[in-house]
Amino acid sequence: MNYPEKVRIVEVGPRDGLQNEPGHLPLALKVELVNRLSACGLSTIETGSFVSPKWIPQMADSEQVFQQITRHPGIQYSALTPNLQGLQRAIAVNVSEVAVFAAASETFSQRNINCSVQESIARFTEVINAAKQADLPVRGYVSCALGCPYEGEIAPSAVAGVVAKLLALGCYEVSIGDTIGVGTPLKVKAVMEACMQHANPAQLAVHFHDTYGQSLANILAALQTGIPTVDSSIAGLGGCPYAQGASGNVASEDVVYLLHGMGIETGVDLDTLIATSHWICEKLERKNNSKVALARGNSARGNA
Ligand code: HMG
Ligand code: MG
Repeated sequence: MNYPEKVRIVEVGPRDGLQNEPGHLPLALKVELVNRLSACGLSTIETGSFVSPKWIPQMADSEQVFQQITRHPGIQYSALTPNLQGLQRAIAVNVSEVAVFAAASETFSQRNINCSVQESIARFTEVINAAKQADLPVRGYVSCALGCPYEGEIAPSAVAGVVAKLLALGCYEVSIGDTIGVGTPLKVKAVMEACMQHANPAQLAVHFHDTYGQSLANILAALQTGIPTVDSSIAGLGGCPYAQGASGNVASEDVVYLLHGMGIETGVDLDTLIATSHWICEKLERKNNSKVALARGNSARGNA
């Protein structure tokens, strides 16, 4: 079996992780999380989102987060931008990269971004054109690629159709999201193969929520199709408020352990990541969802 020699981890904890935390989170905590993650050897950190604060109040202070973090050379600090208003906010605080997020399901698109899939593509056309003028790389997401909380099964061809549109508009990569974590490996393969009718493996990433505990098996299946980029979240934080029952993302520590165990390079320092994981769980007073962090204990705490 051929696997990629190197995998890029896109750390989405500060955005996908924190967007779903109940209650108000102090700005200083968000800033410190990004700063600690910056010391882990990651190359992309999704740092916030410029969405409506009425829809996602947890991300309302993303401007201040971007203004206060210490940026490291070689790290992309990215943010979600659902419309031109979001893009302008992102440009004003000098983000390194932006992301637009579409869905393979009509109902989820309406619930999450208040428009149809086709309308979202029209909106993203403006966003991507304006981002290109500002020299910003744009990532795309396709949510509900393995199932929808409202519509159930989603056809791989529906996912592939949205991927094709996002790439044609100029996204450099599209991340295939199992928003509610219902996928299983053979379904993942079928979806990735459908997407590869329109994309090279290098233009695709995978984004698994771990609701049904299938994420690592699904990542292995995606790697077998040649996908070199995996999204994950420190301590398995995460969830989408518009996808009821969606649990956290697959934990970054577990993904790094899997990849290093297979001899695949990530550039990430697992010990520093684990220390960061214990630190954030203690601050959020929540259970750590990373099996690897739990297995290693928190003796490394304070080293991050
Ligand atoms: P809308 O209500 O249709 O927008 O929301 P609108 O254009 O009609 O504007 C309504 C109000 O929102 C106006 O304010 C705008 O100024 C304001 P008012 O005049 O009423 O005071 N507004 C904004 N404010 C700040 N920044 C903005 C912005 N845009 C409008 N960018 C909209 C449409 C897309 C904005 C809304 O639906 C929204 O923000 N949705 C975001 C939902 C979200 O963030 N979901 C979670 C992220 S997606 C995810 O987690 C999945 C992913 O992880 C992959 C996976 O797991 O599958 C990526
Ligand atoms: Mg997500």
